[in-house]
Amino acid sequence: MKLFRRISEASKWFQARRRAGKRIVLVPTMGALHTGHLSLFRKARRLAGRKGVVAASIFVNPAQFGPREDFRSYPRALKRDLALCKKAGIDAVFHPSAGSMYAANHSSWADETRLSRGLCGRSRPGHFRGVCTVVAKLFNIVQPAIAVFGEKDYQQAQVIRRMVRDLNFPVRIIVTPTRREPDGLAMSSRNLYLSPAQRGQAPRIRRALMEARRQVRMRSHPAPVLARKIKSRLAGFRVDYVEVVDARTLESVKRAQRGDRVAVAAFLGKTRLIDNIIL
Ligand code: PAJ
Repeated sequence: MKLFRRISEASKWFQARRRAGKRIVLVPTMGALHTGHLSLFRKARRLAGRKGVVAASIFVNPAQFGPREDFRSYPRALKRDLALCKKAGIDAVFHPSAGSMYAANHSSWADETRLSRGLCGRSRPGHFRGVCTVVAKLFNIVQPAIAVFGEKDYQQAQVIRRMVRDLNFPVRIIVTPTRREPDGLAMSSRNLYLSPAQRGQAPRIRRALMEARRQVRMRSHPAPVLARKIKSRLAGFRVDYVEVVDARTLESVKRAQRGDRVAVAAFLGKTRLIDNIIL
């Protein structure tokens, strides 16, 4: 397995693979890898085939964290991550330094301005601009044919699809299902922050979403009523938002119906958890 820290070396290597006719599949991550990431790696391998190249990036992207967010404390576990990548059959890991990705006078951004406005974008201003910018940079450096993202970050996946369409990145975006702990909690690097008591509470988000889906499958509900029901099951959380949105436009709907998405962000202590479900 190759490990690249320098952008120029990574670019050169990927370019040579591409010229040799290899299909490159990229999985962007911020590391602290868990089974959710590994499922993306497996999907990437299937898409690349035995002869293709599967690349993972590990980069805690400062541009997507707000000034009062957890950039500094975000879990970093490079040695363990590299061992997991190797075991997963990754061909190349790109792990640049923050300084090499963002020059001190960096001043150019990729900014999706519609799908990014609501949900996480509302409570995390600048977040998706940071995500889009780093993903655009990774696409330019690696130039993959395909990139794989997780449905756990549903809004992120939609925003990236839109950016790729709008800015004509020649990359196919594949989105894979959310991997969960046995009790339903969506896997996340941030779950490491949870105390044992909080970890016990955390699966209630998933249960509230499943219950909401069950109710909507019986009959449609006004969206605010459904959102209130979900919030009432999240006592003990500091709810950031519960929203029922159109799965494609991410606009709020009036009536919650089959096919809509419900997205939740809620804090347990300082830890912000997100999840979503299709109704
Ligand atoms: P990170 O949180 O490390 O997630 C990397 C990828 O793994 C994302 O596409 C995310 O949706 C996916 N993922 C996370 N948890 C998952 C789970 N439980 N099941 C399935 N997939 C899961 O998302 C980011 O990093 C960053 O914003 C990034 C796209 C790398 C840009 O910096």
